[in-house]
Amino acid sequence: MNITEILNKIGPSTLRRAQGSGTLGYTKEDLKTLLAAEGEDKKLLFAKALQSKLEHLDNYVHLRGLIEYSNVCTKYCLYCGVRSKNPNFERYTLSDEEVIECAKLAHELGYGSVALQSGERSDAAFVDKITYLVQEIKKIDNGSLGITLSLGEQTEETYRRWFEAGAHRYLLRIEASNEELYYKIHPRDEKHDFQTRLNCIDTLLKLGYQTGTGVMVGLPFQTLDDLADDLLFFKQKDVAMVGMGPFIPHPDTPLWQYRDQIPSAEQRMELTLKMIATLRLMMPEINMVAATANQTVDPQGREKAIAVGANVIMPNLTPNEFRENYLIYPDKACVNDKPDQCQTCLDVRLAAIGHKVLYNAWGDSVAFTKKH
Ligand code: 5AD
Ligand code: FES
Repeated sequence: MNITEILNKIGPSTLRRAQGSGTLGYTKEDLKTLLAAEGEDKKLLFAKALQSKLEHLDNYVHLRGLIEYSNVCTKYCLYCGVRSKNPNFERYTLSDEEVIECAKLAHELGYGSVALQSGERSDAAFVDKITYLVQEIKKIDNGSLGITLSLGEQTEETYRRWFEAGAHRYLLRIEASNEELYYKIHPRDEKHDFQTRLNCIDTLLKLGYQTGTGVMVGLPFQTLDDLADDLLFFKQKDVAMVGMGPFIPHPDTPLWQYRDQIPSAEQRMELTLKMIATLRLMMPEINMVAATANQTVDPQGREKAIAVGANVIMPNLTPNEFRENYLIYPDKACVNDKPDQCQTCLDVRLAAIGHKVLYNAWGDSVAFTKKH
């Protein structure tokens, strides 16, 4: 089947709405064809994806003020610059006051939501601290800020406590939905267990979080088959949010040695855009983030992601002095920007591509809201 035929599998939007969250009928082969699209075919895919987004979600972009709470991490994923086995930078944890100040700033800037992210810890002190911070953030202007957590694998009890404290979204990328590939990018040990990761995603869904997952694109050993399966995984789990960004090799990590065996930065970017566009057609009402990694490999990367189907941006609110110690990957974008500069910059950049920020709103996933 050619691209036009595949794209035409999408019925009129009324029919699509009647069917619920989406367009069905894409086979794995169809997905691989879409992911391999080049030239005019690729343009057609991108145009269709944008059209689908505008039809279902309008031209709004939602913001989540990102607070990188701590780079202390007990894990050592083979791709990640803040892995515990990297001694080449200082470890920090923000004070309670710093976190609350960031959240207040998010509120003042009209961001509507914050995302609290951190290296992975699951000790009792950490769990208590996060519970406390969530409760404190909730007190700002009577619970007006939405709260997303991105704090890795935890027990069901912990996830429940944080939910009850007021967090309502959780991001936990599967990173690679193919178990074999998962173990090529994670150590094979009890700390990095694939099944545990899957169970955590299921638990988050069960507890009622707006659950987000995602993968890195352009990983060593990753094939088009893997990426098509990743898309089917998101659909099968019926997640509310997805984040995908290009893999960026970090010199202090084991995967650095494969840097010459992966697609070029430009190819990883293009492949990420095709993943976003294809998923937008499969899941028209989910929230999809234009990840910062996109902007790192291409100065226009975030806008490009928005223009092919993403609808969320996470501007960094971490105090500038800590940002250079949260380099999950090198040359991370916006490390030196001040929050108010970020805001003007975003408004202008988004206006240039016909989009606008929806200020002072939680910006929940429409797919999730309809389902519940
Ligand atoms: N390149 C791109 N993304 C990365 N992440 C971690 N390391 C890298 C890297 N080297 C992503 C992972 C993780 C998220 C916080 O950052 O997908 O879930
Ligand atoms: Fe696992 Fe950083 S060590 S994502």
